[in-house]
Amino acid sequence: MDNALVIGGTRFIGRHLVSDLLENDYDVTIFNRGNHDNPFADDPRVQHVQGDRTDDEALRTAKLTVEPDAVFDCVAYKPREVATAVDTFTDVDAYVYISSGDAYETEEIPKREGVTELRDCSDEQATDDSHDSYGPRKAEGDRVVFEAASRGINAMSVRPCIVYGPHDYTERLDYWIDRVLNYDRIVVPGDGTNIWHRAYVEDVASAMRIVAEEGEAGESYNVGDRRLVTLEEMVDVIADAAGTDVEVVHAGERELAASGLEPSDFVLYRDYPHVLSTAKLADLGWESTPVEEAMRRSVEDHRESDRDGSEHDPGREAEQRVLSILDTL
Ligand SMILES: NC(=O)c1ccc[n+]([C@@H]2O[C@H](COP(=O)([O-])OP(=O)(O)OC[C@H]3O[C@@H](n4cnc5c(N)ncnc54)[C@H](OP(=O)(O)O)[C@@H]3O)[C@@H](O)[C@H]2O)c1
Repeated sequence: MDNALVIGGTRFIGRHLVSDLLENDYDVTIFNRGNHDNPFADDPRVQHVQGDRTDDEALRTAKLTVEPDAVFDCVAYKPREVATAVDTFTDVDAYVYISSGDAYETEEIPKREGVTELRDCSDEQATDDSHDSYGPRKAEGDRVVFEAASRGINAMSVRPCIVYGPHDYTERLDYWIDRVLNYDRIVVPGDGTNIWHRAYVEDVASAMRIVAEEGEAGESYNVGDRRLVTLEEMVDVIADAAGTDVEVVHAGERELAASGLEPSDFVLYRDYPHVLSTAKLADLGWESTPVEEAMRRSVEDHRESDRDGSEHDPGREAEQRVLSILDTL
């Protein structure tokens, strides 16, 4: 297996996947609309086929042009898109769909493949675009993969939790890096022990390749950092990576409410812990980057970028009010 087609490939996870595939001697073709800059435009090892994946004919043309051994689907947001892809690439050695940890219905620790129940998806949810139906649509995509495998198609899925690292256009981690780089004291909601499992992007990329190479048809594989850190530990790891010190100030619901805030106003805060078991993926030989190293690369990239995470900012003034309230206690 050495000829890979990446559906997507130019922004974040897909971009790292292309790099990982090149490092592992694959011939790589990316398939996308060409709306985003292609970071591989000057790399003769990466071919580009232009097209919209929602156009079935364009996907078929990509298949006939590339005749890939492995297909990595980074842009399937609706079950119909997964269905078209598995039917277009019926004879490949591996089709890997990026699902999501959000596909899980039941809140349990950890969430396990084949054990933890997946979300249902109504016909209405399957075709809508809202954030609320994201998890159900991803879960239905997984069911399409299972059904395809039962017909002999070598389809598999990976389920990453929150992905972070260089080129992360969601800017969720950038909010916290920006706070650490620019302030001495920062508010962390709750007691700091809250956990929302995260996955370093290069590890998601290697997971996709390893699942294609070693995974079993009809199986899903969770992806997340092997060592989880709490929200407060994350802030400390960022500060270490940035070579700075920061004072973490805990603020409970009451103190936050006095400034018109609530814990969920802080990005990457989640009330109930979200933890994915990564044992099944590790059994395939996958390893994750130590969190200190992952954060060092993330902070370095943040410094070189113009991302500041401001779209997630609950407001520094409100945060200052919280700090003042806590100082008077
Ligand atoms: N970030 C997370 O925390 C997280 C967590 C779990 C799962 N995921 C999953 O990861 C995937 C997203 O990864 P990414 O955005 O980082 O991947 P990416 O492959 O690096 O970037 C998205 C690519 O898709 C292309 N694209 C968008 N719409 C397209 C269309 N209709 N037809 C063809 N190409 C299209 C974009 O280029 P053009 O716009 O030029 O076409 C771009 O190349 C999604 O499936 C998401 O559900 C993400």
